[in-house]
Amino acid sequence: MPKDSLWKTSSREITGGRGGPECRLKQKPLIAQKTPIKVELKGGKRYKWCVCGRSKNQPFCDGSHLFQGTGLFPLWFKVKENRTVSLCTCKATQKPPYCDGTHKSQKIQCAQVGSPL
Ligand code: FES
Repeated sequence: MPKDSLWKTSSREITGGRGGPECRLKQKPLIAQKTPIKVELKGGKRYKWCVCGRSKNQPFCDGSHLFQGTGLFPLWFKVKENRTVSLCTCKATQKPPYCDGTHKSQKIQCAQVGSPL
């Protein structure tokens, strides 16, 4: 068998099988909620905002992205001084981790909680 054929066969196997490497591809974030959560943050402390939408500790990461093999990672952030902020839970904000009002869009309001963005 020519070398090219072997490569093509391997390539097909890599993308086609169950439980193969395609499972490590990034999954889409899920809409965790449709409204932001207000939280009091401590200045200088680091926080992990849930990006995948699967955390049971919204809006913060609980490690679900890892256990569920999403290929997504939380966003580390901190504020300089103590502040009360609205953190996004719909995961569609353009200013993560902060709510920018995108949750009010028809796309988010008509979608099911737990559905992919
Ligand atoms: S909750 Fe996501 S933009 Fe407001």
